[in-house]
Amino acid sequence: MRIVIPGGTGQVGGILRRRYAAAGHDVVVLSRHPETLEPGVRHRSWDGRTVGDWAEELDGADLVVNLAGRTVSCRYTDEHLRQMMDSRVDSTRAVGQALELAARPPAVWLQMSTATIYADRRDAPHDEATGIIGGHEPHVPAYWEFSVRIAREWEAAQQEATLPHTRRVALRAAMVMSPDRGGVFDYLSWMARLGLGGPVAGGGQYVSWIHGDDFCRAVDLLAERSDLEGPVNLAAPDPLPQRELMRELRGAWGGRPGLPATRAMAEIGAWVLRTDTELLLKSRRVVPGRLLDAGFAFEHPTWAGAAADLVAGVRERRRP
Ligand SMILES: NC(=O)c1ccc[n+]([C@@H]2O[C@H](COP(=O)([O-])OP(=O)(O)OC[C@H]3O[C@@H](n4cnc5c(N)ncnc54)[C@H](OP(=O)(O)O)[C@@H]3O)[C@@H](O)[C@H]2O)c1
Repeated sequence: MRIVIPGGTGQVGGILRRRYAAAGHDVVVLSRHPETLEPGVRHRSWDGRTVGDWAEELDGADLVVNLAGRTVSCRYTDEHLRQMMDSRVDSTRAVGQALELAARPPAVWLQMSTATIYADRRDAPHDEATGIIGGHEPHVPAYWEFSVRIAREWEAAQQEATLPHTRRVALRAAMVMSPDRGGVFDYLSWMARLGLGGPVAGGGQYVSWIHGDDFCRAVDLLAERSDLEGPVNLAAPDPLPQRELMRELRGAWGGRPGLPATRAMAEIGAWVLRTDTELLLKSRRVVPGRLLDAGFAFEHPTWAGAAADLVAGVRERRRP
C-alpha cells in the first residue's frame, strides 16, 4: 500500500511510519524540512499550506493520515495560538484540495484531531454520542476555549473538500504514549523520576491516554472499516485522575516519591518549561465509544499495564 503521512516527522508520525515501513508499505512523509528518515520511508517537501508537486503522491495512494500541526506544548501567546490554528486548518485544507485534484484519490483520509475538543469534565466520560463539546464551561479559564475552537475548525476543514470517493475520519486522540525520546510519556517519566510527579492542583482532573501500539491498531481498524466515518475517540477505556495516573507511573518506575504541586506552582513550572497549564489542568475524560462498538480490543486497556510496558520500552531504548 502507499500511505502518505503529512506531518509524519513528529512523535505520532514516528510510531506510524516505522510500523508501516516495517510492514513493507510505501510510506511517504510530507514535511517542511527534508531529512533522512528510516529506510523504506520516502520524504517529500511541502509548505503545509498550498498544493504543490507533493500532491502527486496522493494520486493512487491507499491511505492518507494527516498529522501536521504546530506543537501545542508552548506558551499560549497570541502568536503561538494563531500558529497552532493556522498550521492545522491550512494543512488540512491543502490535503483536501490535493485530494480533489487526484484522479484516483485514496479510499480513506484519516485526519488528526484531538480529545481536547470535549469539555472539561470530571463527573462523567465523553464518548462520541453523548460527549459535550467544550468552549462553554463556566468554571474554566476563558482562554481554554481557543483550544476547542482550534479542534472544531480543524475538523471542519476536513469537511470542506468535495470528495465523493474518500471516506473521512477525524481522530480525536488522547495523549499517545510511546517510549520515544521527547514524547509525552518521556516527559511524564522525567517528572516522575525527579520526584515532581505528584498531584497537580489536587490531581482530580482526568487524563485520557492511549498506548502507541493501540493507537496504530485503531488506525488500522479505521483504515479498513468502510462503515466508520466522522469523529472517533482514540483513547483507552481507562482515563484516570492525574494524581492516580502519576502514582501508577511512579510505581512503574520503582516507587518514586511525588511531591504535590499547587496551581500556582504549576503556573511557575509551566512558565519555566515554556508550556501552558491548560495541558496539565484541563480534565480530559474521554472514552472510546465507537471503537468499542466496532469490536476493537485494546492490548493495553489499563494504565497500570500500559505504564509497565512503556517503562520497559524506555529501558530497552536506553540499552547500549
Ligand atoms: N502526541 C499526542 O499525544 C497527540 C495527541 C492528540 C493529538 N495530537 C496531534 O497529532 C498531531 C501529531 O502529533 P505529534 O505529537 O506527532 O506532533 P509533533 O511531534 O509536534 O509533530 C507534528 C508535525 O507537524 C508538522 N508541523 C509543525 N508545524 C507546522 C506548520 N506550521 N505547518 C505544517 N506542518 C507543521 C511538523 O513537521 P515538519 O516540521 O517536518 O514539517 C511536525 O513534525 C499534532 O497535530 C498534535 O496536535 C497529538
